[in-house]
Amino acid sequence: MNDSVNPEGAASPADHDDDGSPVLWLVPLLIAVAVIALAWGAVAAANRSPSGSVAVPPTTTSAPGGGGPTTVPGDGGAGDGEAAARGEEIYKGTCVACHGPDATGIPGLGKDLTNSEFIQGLTDEELVAFIETGRPVDDPANTTGVAMPPKGGNPSLSDQDIADVVAFLRTLQ
Ligand code: HEC
Repeated sequence: MNDSVNPEGAASPADHDDDGSPVLWLVPLLIAVAVIALAWGAVAAANRSPSGSVAVPPTTTSAPGGGGPTTVPGDGGAGDGEAAARGEEIYKGTCVACHGPDATGIPGLGKDLTNSEFIQGLTDEELVAFIETGRPVDDPANTTGVAMPPKGGNPSLSDQDIADVVAFLRTLQ
């Protein structure tokens, strides 16, 4: 391409003066070096990536005992933590509208469910039964003049769903 005579004669070694362009012989060398460097980098990167993505073994919680309250009379099988986690999802779907995102209640809609003497005074089974029937306005126990609807107004909740919500409510006490 560049076959014009290089005027930089001063930089050329004496042996190569017939070359005319002493820099040109460097070009393939530089290209070779660059290619090798790139290839080296690619190989290094390829080598690094499999070791970088060390497989993290999935940690299935096997609930090795301890922790939670042991007053659960149900036949749950699943650990308290899992039930509470599912219950929290159900809470967010059904109960949050009246009892609020932090379960401290929304005035005029639902009561505080944290540190609740009412909840603490009931067994899990009684609490499930309560949530299934709710508390109408004409119930003498009603304190707000607002009804707690059966199943929080969500008839599609199963017994298991409600038991899970109860497990979640236990974590708020
Ligand atoms: C439409 C609004 C509404 C929804 C939805 C709702 N609640 Fe309530 N809930 C109330 C009201 C109102 C009360 C208080 C009634 C009263 O005055 O005693 C209440 C009371 C309660 C109580 C008794 C608290 C106490 O100290 O007496 C519990 C427990 C409870 N709700 C749980 C739930 C759960 C669990 C859900 C979701 C499955 C839910 N609620 C959904 C309105 C609601």
